[in-house]
Amino acid sequence: MTALRYESLADKVVLVTGASRGIGRGIALAFGEQGALVLVNSRAEERVTETVEAIVAAGGSAETAVADVGDPSAAQALIAEIVEHHGRLDVLVNNSAISPVVPLLEMTQEMWEQAQRVNEWALFHCGQPVARQMVAQGGGSIVVIGSPGAEDAYDGQSLYCASKAGLQMLAMSMAWEWGPLGVRTNVVQPGWIETALNRKYLSDPDVRERVTNTIPLRRTGLPADVAPAVLWLCSDDAAYVNGATLQVDGGLLAGRPTVVSRRFEWARR
Ligand SMILES: NC(=O)c1ccc[n+]([C@@H]2O[C@H](COP(=O)([O-])OP(=O)(O)OC[C@H]3O[C@@H](n4cnc5c(N)ncnc54)[C@H](OP(=O)(O)O)[C@@H]3O)[C@@H](O)[C@H]2O)c1
Repeated sequence: MTALRYESLADKVVLVTGASRGIGRGIALAFGEQGALVLVNSRAEERVTETVEAIVAAGGSAETAVADVGDPSAAQALIAEIVEHHGRLDVLVNNSAISPVVPLLEMTQEMWEQAQRVNEWALFHCGQPVARQMVAQGGGSIVVIGSPGAEDAYDGQSLYCASKAGLQMLAMSMAWEWGPLGVRTNVVQPGWIETALNRKYLSDPDVRERVTNTIPLRRTGLPADVAPAVLWLCSDDAAYVNGATLQVDGGLLAGRPTVVSRRFEWARR
């Protein structure tokens, strides 16, 4: 995964939400390799158990941390249980999200609320009790997995984009209010990463080719591309980094494909 070994991450207690698969799983595995105790969250015991077993098989330490983080009382109970059992919580990686596709005119109130709860409010549900503990213990680090959708509207994904925009601002507010208390908060914005979340798009070869052509590095990313950025942000090497947004997207947001650029062969290579 990463050749770097961060001494400052060894023995840390780390909660990764949405770590049963995809990017969260990759981040959980990476913290396991650093010698941290990884608390692996998702909604289902059987799904997080697979990640826990993979971390342990690689020589790391991990435990299941099952809860629906979109539910405030479930999230708060999870944090309280972690603090009671481990006495501290050093890192929160707020990663879980859902990405329903539905045109705005057809969206129901229930869909709207569910996406806001999981994608945005979960950061408040988990982040506030986590930060209280971090302040009490003398510091900690929070990394929020955001999205370029915080800045651009996508077809049929107003739920996702609006929730990610709110998430982004909540993360910046946390950096602003909790920085003076010793809690650093930063955002990682992945680009096109190969996970179940966007399989519905990338399984179409034509879409895949068009997507790849919008990425300057001309490939989609893997969860293992995202995890090193999260490790660094949580390490002491990033001790002066707070309120940053780090794009791990192959340069996706560096520019925009235009109608004109499609006429140039070199722009498609
Ligand atoms: N993949 C991309 O290209 C991409 C691009 C930009 C940003 N991102 C962001 O990266 C993060 C991870 O995405 P991904 O692609 O890895 O997605 P994914 O493969 O669909 O995984 C989502 C994870 O969230 C968990 N989850 C969903 N609802 C939950 C809830 N209420 N409580 C607890 N866990 C919940 C799922 O676990 P269970 O189903 O087991 O509960 C799963 O582990 C998300 O924040 C996403 O917005 C992804």
